Amino acid sequence: MIKKAVIPAAGYGTRFLPITKAIPKEMLPIIDRPTIEFIVNEAKASGIEDILIIVSSNKNAIVDYFDYNIELETILKLKGKEALYQKVHGIAEGINIYFVRQKEQLGLGHAVLQAEAFVGNEPFAVLLGDDLYVGKNKPALKELIDVYENKKASILGTMEVSLENTPKYGICDPKSIEGNTMLLKGVVEKPNKEDAPSRHAIGGRYILTPAIFNILKTQQKGFGGEIQLTDAILNLMTSEDVYATSLQAKRYDVGSKIDYIEAIIDFALEEPTL
Ligand code: UTP
Repeated sequence: MIKKAVIPAAGYGTRFLPITKAIPKEMLPIIDRPTIEFIVNEAKASGIEDILIIVSSNKNAIVDYFDYNIELETILKLKGKEALYQKVHGIAEGINIYFVRQKEQLGLGHAVLQAEAFVGNEPFAVLLGDDLYVGKNKPALKELIDVYENKKASILGTMEVSLENTPKYGICDPKSIEGNTMLLKGVVEKPNKEDAPSRHAIGGRYILTPAIFNILKTQQKGFGGEIQLTDAILNLMTSEDVYATSLQAKRYDVGSKIDYIEAIIDFALEEPTL
């Protein structure tokens, strides 16, 4: 069973500057709750018990959000605002959340490496802190965990993108395809569209075996001068099978402005008072 999850949330969020100078992009609100809370709830609904959030020195708002605010809660209680108190006090109840700082933003692969001591020697989930999924029947991560139960190997969650958009993503190179799931022979981070091996893009959800950590320790910088998780996954394929499965849940890359706006509108349309 997959019981541990890692949420990397230490990046600079440059696509959202200047607001991300002071507010972590993972804290940008989808109306009245931050993106990262939806991601934590997805993990919880998928059976995860322990979450490690990778933060950096200017991301203390994330740590504060998942803590109690005793002063505020006391005032809400004193004023008889029980419903509001429950709303504030009940954030991420029933799941253990831990934090570690990535001291330098050397890339997603380097961020995941910070989770080695927390994860130990078991397979674990990675949910990117700016990829929001809304599943009709089940949470996106549960879709991956169900495939893991069958394959007992690393699995990447994917979605289909247009050829024009392949340079924005990690792209899968399938060896064989069986229904929604494919065995991979390669992955490439942000290829030129002429070089894209498929239109199956990695969408911010992963199940990884702990073998990834030894690879990450020696992984050289790749695209953008960053230590890329995709490059480490490509190396993992030389010793283990790695699969990808196309996720049914709808994805919003809330690190991009257009998806952020779409997420807010979709969430508002689901809320009768709005
Ligand atoms: P992104 O590349 O989308 O995030 O990384 P970014 O670098 O913060 O954003 P832009 O592109 O400059 O706008 C995906 C996830 O990995 C985390 C980010 O916080 C994000 O949730 N990340 C990235 C880290 O934790 N550490 C890093 O060094 C890089």
